[in-house]
Amino acid sequence: MEKSALLKNYNRFTVEFDHGNGFFLYDKNGKEYIDFYCGIAVTSFGHNNSILKAAAIEQINKLWHTSNLFTSSLQESLANKLSEKSGMDYVFFCNSGTEAVEAAIKFARKWGAGRNNIIAAHGSFHGRSYGALSATGQFKFWNGFEPLVPGFSHVPFGSISAVVNAINDNTAAVMVETIQGEGGVNVPPDDYLIGLRELCSEKNILLIVDEIQTGIGRTGKFYSYQHENIIPDIVTSAKGLANGIPLGATLCSKEVAECIKPGDHGSTFGGNPIAVAVANKVVDLLDENFLGEIEKIGTILLNGLHGLHHSSIKNIRGKGLIIGVEFSPEVSAKKVSSRMLEEGFVVGTAGDYVLRILPPFIVTQNEIAKFLLTLKKIIDELSDNNNK
Ligand SMILES: Cc1ncc(COP(=O)(O)O)c(C=O)c1O
Repeated sequence: MEKSALLKNYNRFTVEFDHGNGFFLYDKNGKEYIDFYCGIAVTSFGHNNSILKAAAIEQINKLWHTSNLFTSSLQESLANKLSEKSGMDYVFFCNSGTEAVEAAIKFARKWGAGRNNIIAAHGSFHGRSYGALSATGQFKFWNGFEPLVPGFSHVPFGSISAVVNAINDNTAAVMVETIQGEGGVNVPPDDYLIGLRELCSEKNILLIVDEIQTGIGRTGKFYSYQHENIIPDIVTSAKGLANGIPLGATLCSKEVAECIKPGDHGSTFGGNPIAVAVANKVVDLLDENFLGEIEKIGTILLNGLHGLHHSSIKNIRGKGLIIGVEFSPEVSAKKVSSRMLEEGFVVGTAGDYVLRILPPFIVTQNEIAKFLLTLKKIIDELSDNNNK
């Protein structure tokens, strides 16, 4: 192997994708794959989507960048649409999930006016910059990087009483994912989010919902907190927002927005015209009808997985098209995903034992049937090998 100057901060597969179309990906050798991962919940409308491509190309031909010192009707339009879809009042644009979380942390502290503690959950993932990493409740990500930013505490995910006990006079906000994606596709008890909303309102604390993985239709609602009919104070969004062109957004209530003055926060690239042009179309495509279809196809996939009745499957969980399959310890999720790749399916993991399935919204029953057959074959094979 030739020397590579690329930093070794990822464990990469040797497969190199060359192009994609719909739910198909093609590697350098022309081998076809069905995408059940969407580049970690990003390319939800598939690859090479004609409507999104046309929006990007139109903007590429017009203007790439000016700066946020000038009016942008593209940004205004997207902010208004996101506000309408989410029930939130104001929107700040950035380039990634991590940046959306950083903005959320800063906004919460500004609003807190001296109260600066944020309560987050064990098993959470909020990003890798210092603020977002400090909010992240998986301590393996902290190794070697301490000291972190002070002012974060972590409590067990799914427990309201743990949050109650952690609240003190210094608490400004509670930050949660509705389903922990990176942490293992962990689904909390039914009343968790509603309970947190009530608690935060009662104690005059902000509720920050991190929708970076679960938002933009992934669970069958535009934002997943809408399953519970609650409105947070701050929402973070990214990943699927521009179907693969980098874009993040932090949405907030009027009360939070009023604390933010010109100069308090900003970004050179945030709300880039090409990304925002594409995101405007993404949001238009995600109407109630389409969201309903996501929920339906998600249920078909979930039922299909339950139908495998495999002794090596310990648990199946998720909502819409974010689904985790937890294996018993003799089956490694990494091995399953590598074997699936050899068989022509791209699928991810969350931790050692959970297969993370994030198909595009355009997936049909046909691909799901093929996926299930292949998955069964591979789990059989890996369980058999272990029993020998
Ligand atoms: C819930 C959640 N928050 C934040 C992030 C960080 O987003 P990004 O990788 O775009 O910075 C992720 C990424 O996986 C995520 O799943």
